[in-house]
Amino acid sequence: MSEPETQTDTAPAADALAAADDEARALDKALQGRQPFHVVEAAFERFGPSLVVSFSGAEDVLVVDLAVQVLGARAASELRVLTLDTGRLHPETLRYLEEVRQHYGIALQVQMPDGAATQALVQRKGLFSFYVDGHKECCSVRKVAPLRRALAGAPAWMTGQRRDQSPDTRAAVPFCELDRAFSGPQQPLFKFNPLANWKSAEVWRYLRGAGIPTNPLHQRGFISIGCEPCTRAVGPGEHERAGRWWWEEATQKECGLHRPDDA
Ligand code: ADX
Ligand code: SF4
Repeated sequence: MSEPETQTDTAPAADALAAADDEARALDKALQGRQPFHVVEAAFERFGPSLVVSFSGAEDVLVVDLAVQVLGARAASELRVLTLDTGRLHPETLRYLEEVRQHYGIALQVQMPDGAATQALVQRKGLFSFYVDGHKECCSVRKVAPLRRALAGAPAWMTGQRRDQSPDTRAAVPFCELDRAFSGPQQPLFKFNPLANWKSAEVWRYLRGAGIPTNPLHQRGFISIGCEPCTRAVGPGEHERAGRWWWEEATQKECGLHRPDDA
């Protein structure tokens, strides 16, 4: 009895994912050559304010800024902006998150990791296990599982990923895709990356030109900013990703938010 039931149950789910995949590809194609503002606009046109904007507390504030522009400042409090507070962020980043919350009048969702899972990991392996056996386990507890909880039921999310952030892992980031890692069985999850084809210099020109507040760590040589123990400032000529999980190989430098195999 159980086998036919499973087939009946899974077939519509697979159809829904396939249809969403087709739609995401078509949207991505239609967005080629468009500016980040237009990508954000198209995303909100399709999904409305239930779309979740993820914000790490770095230069991806640009995505928050664009989303507020698209929705209109008066609707800023309706915007779903999500930050994963891993419990290991720099104090500067926490203060900056609060600054951004107040600057835009947004209701920032600060998503914490599960207390019991975090405590179990620390109890078993200590507070710095990532230096010994890699960052995946800690990122899985402190970032990936909380993101999954935060996105449950959401139709779409948006990130600040760019192709120039990592030639090893992000060279093909599209404007729009089906997020297979975080889609539910009955709920396809679309993912938008409006800054995909912008270079770091363009982002910074925009942020400075518009007087948008930025994380003070950027003035101290930090380019890419993640958790405090896993991020360091980079020297002249070093790629930004060199400052993340610097003790690991370049191809491993994803935490599982964007590369499911690493989760
Ligand atoms: S990471 O996967 O290596 O940590 P990165 O720091 O480059 O990602 O950020 C890329 C995008 O992932 C950000 O613009 C943001 O959309 C999302 N992101 C990363 N870290 C967080 C976080 N702590 N909270 C919310 N979103 C995040
Ligand atoms: Fe843990 Fe480092 Fe990953 Fe943060 S970046 S969740 S501290 S391994």
